[in-house]
Amino acid sequence: MPQHASPLPPTLPSSLSFSPAPAPTSAELLDFVRRTAADRELVDSLPLDPEGRTWVRLDGPGGSEAWLIGWPPGTGTGWHDHAESLGAFATARGTLTENALAVRLPASGWKTLELADGLDRSRRLPEGAGRAFGHHHVHEVLNESTDTHAISVHAYHPPLPLIRRFSRTGAVLRLEQVERPEEWQ
Ligand SMILES: [Fe+2]
Repeated sequence: MPQHASPLPPTLPSSLSFSPAPAPTSAELLDFVRRTAADRELVDSLPLDPEGRTWVRLDGPGGSEAWLIGWPPGTGTGWHDHAESLGAFATARGTLTENALAVRLPASGWKTLELADGLDRSRRLPEGAGRAFGHHHVHEVLNESTDTHAISVHAYHPPLPLIRRFSRTGAVLRLEQVERPEEWQ
């Protein structure tokens, strides 16, 4: 007597189920910002304003948040972090300076922190250079040029839930403000 075929299992084996695209790694974000920074047509399309930063939102890989940003001479971000997001950025025009802390700060529960000696890192990112960073990376990005606009590409994943802004007086870092996306309009 022929055997009846077994009914299909009610759910697909886990190896065949559909799952969202994996989150991009910081290396993939860095690859994206470097390739995008080399896209002359895109970079040249950014409107520049001598009075302030300009930006255009881009589609980053794997659902990440990406931006093309123009920096007039002498502008900068101030100290901040990107909470749980990791990210990468690359310079497309000019030179940017990143000042960063070589420490992962507690995410909450403090208002001021006295930084230990030796935590400051500074790097210059000329055209074509980029860097990736992990969670709770605290930094400021500056265009220290006195006469040349800079342009850069940035990507973050997950898309930025918030930015914490800090003031810095010597070794003392003070949490000043938590900004959420609706405040960035
Ligand atoms: Fe940043």
